[in-house]
Amino acid sequence: MPDAVHVGSGKVRELYELDETRLLLVASDRISTFDVILPTEIPDKGRVLTGLSAFWFARTRDLVRNHLLALRDDGRSTECRRLEMLPLECVVRGYLAGSGWKDYRATGEVCGHRLPTGLVESQQLPSALFTPSTKATEGHDENIDRDRGIELVGADLYERVERTSLALYEFASRLARERGIILADTKLEFGLDDEGELVLGDEAFTPDSSRFWPADVYTPGTTPPSFDKQPVRDYCESLGWDKLPPGPELPPDVVEGTRARYIEAFERLTGCAFADYAADPNTVLS
Ligand SMILES: Nc1ncnc2c1ncn2[C@@H]1O[C@H](COP(=O)(O)OP(=O)(O)OP(=O)(O)O)[C@@H](O)[C@H]1O
Ligand SMILES: [Mg+2]
Repeated sequence: MPDAVHVGSGKVRELYELDETRLLLVASDRISTFDVILPTEIPDKGRVLTGLSAFWFARTRDLVRNHLLALRDDGRSTECRRLEMLPLECVVRGYLAGSGWKDYRATGEVCGHRLPTGLVESQQLPSALFTPSTKATEGHDENIDRDRGIELVGADLYERVERTSLALYEFASRLARERGIILADTKLEFGLDDEGELVLGDEAFTPDSSRFWPADVYTPGTTPPSFDKQPVRDYCESLGWDKLPPGPELPPDVVEGTRARYIEAFERLTGCAFADYAADPNTVLS
């Protein structure tokens, strides 16, 4: 990458600085399960994440500004505006799953939102909830309530990210539902630009940041299969692995099955053939 300086690595992305105001985000094919990065990559996964995010960025500009400036021809590199990221993971939940279900069972609440009694696992909530968490530097993110969120970013900004996150979730979940996918929950990241404006950054409504369920097999009261990582989870469970690093290598059939699911999610949501995206990433923008 001759035109850029490497400035950081996330679990999935490599960050490069293009100049003072722009970053290049390169999505790798790394996959994590149970929060552990596995030694085996899923070919094209990074391109699926990049293309899907760009698809949503292009369609939500009326709701909020976003960091996307351009996609590069490799389909996995996003030129974006460099932001001061807020110390909040902006989670929206439309259904009771994962840590939301766990908290509800223990306390009857999710992040300080009191819910009706008698809800079952994976049930749709009466209305979508904003349930932010802190960005943990180590281990799992920690769910927080409104007061703690306001302490972190201030009341005005907290209300802006809450309102914007809910509007984005409503938009994306409606479109996904039309395409046979339930968007159970999602995580968004926002930052501020140099004018102090709120900007959506990172990735948006991808299988890595969201829980996608196939609508045709959804049954409240059960744990729905995850659209994308289920073959990986099932394989890891079958080994009796203790979920501590290092994770296991994946055999070719699990890799291929997982790749096919990421591509299916991409094609169903964008309505665009993955081969067309690979030939010209800009096809998802129009
Ligand atoms: N426009 C932006 N400006 C600055 N930082 C950004 C921008 N968009 C995304 N980021 C940051 O880049 C990183 C993306 O890398 P990746 O998704 O691999 O990280 P992660 O594993 O999800 O999280 P972590 O940063 O905790 O490792 C995240 O830390 C994210 O907050
Ligand atoms: Mg990330």
